[in-house]
Amino acid sequence: MLLPLLTTITTLLTTTAHSRPSLHPRSITPPSGCPLPTWQVTTFHWFNGSKSLDCIHNEADINFKDCLCGGPGVWCAPDPATCNGSMVPVCYTGMPNYQPWGFGPPETLDIDFADGLTCHDEYIGYRIHDIGSGESNCGYADRGEGRIVSFYGSSDYDTSTGHMDYVLGDGHALECANGSKITYSGSTDFELNCVHDAFFNATCTAEVFEIPVLSYDWVS
Ligand SMILES: *[C@@H]1O[C@H](CO)[C@@H](O)[C@H](O)[C@H]1NC(C)=O
Ligand SMILES: *[C@@H]1O[C@H](CO)[C@@H](O)[C@H](O)[C@H]1NC(C)=O
Ligand SMILES: *[C@@H]1O[C@H](CO)[C@@H](O)[C@H](O)[C@H]1NC(C)=O
Ligand SMILES: *[C@@H]1O[C@H](CO)[C@@H](O)[C@H](O)[C@H]1NC(C)=O
Repeated sequence: MLLPLLTTITTLLTTTAHSRPSLHPRSITPPSGCPLPTWQVTTFHWFNGSKSLDCIHNEADINFKDCLCGGPGVWCAPDPATCNGSMVPVCYTGMPNYQPWGFGPPETLDIDFADGLTCHDEYIGYRIHDIGSGESNCGYADRGEGRIVSFYGSSDYDTSTGHMDYVLGDGHALECANGSKITYSGSTDFELNCVHDAFFNATCTAEVFEIPVLSYDWVS
């Protein structure tokens, strides 16, 4: 009794897996007459240096003062006795310098989509996003439109599971045949591969993957 049932279930699952359309792995079927977006990540690149400035989690970095000498972005040894400029807390400068004295290259995150959307986060003199813990920066130009691409993951392992959420936002609502406006969101796990050098600087990448559309909302 049980065995045939299991066989049937297995067969069903196998068939489903094989008949998945390759472009929309697990996306919903949109309401009739409505377009469905495709969110394919073509490039994922995350550099997290072992000594990248970290103004969110690292108490020592948060309290660190460096000698700003010779203009914006020029740092000298953090010694008040020899500093020929001024001692400033590196996490609160807001200046386009990401590598104070003694620090390694700054952390950066790039997520590029097949439709042209590009997301780029990098460390500036203060922290905008906590990379790996949520929202990333997909262009300032249309921030008000509500599109949010979030990334969750760790750069500490060679291979791990990353997670990405995509919220299209009301400002990017699509139009259905009857004129109604619809917006979508989606989510997926993906394999995250990180390579560490001798200093444990991490460079993480992922194969091309798609974020399936999992839900919709009407926009009035
Ligand atoms: C337009 O079509 C959608 C999907 O078929 C439906 O849910 C919605 O109510 C329609 N809107 C109008 C204004 O008729
Ligand atoms: C301070 O010293 C550094 C390194 O010696 C030099 O590059 C910089 O121009 C000096 N800045 C000022 C304001 O004199
Ligand atoms: C790796 O980390 C070390 C120590 O912070 C740093 O000096 C070096 O520039 C980093 N290498 C790369 C490729 O970022
Ligand atoms: C970034 O790198 C630091 C230093 O190796 C590490 O402690 C931290 O966990 C990394 N951040 C994430 C989100 O993996």
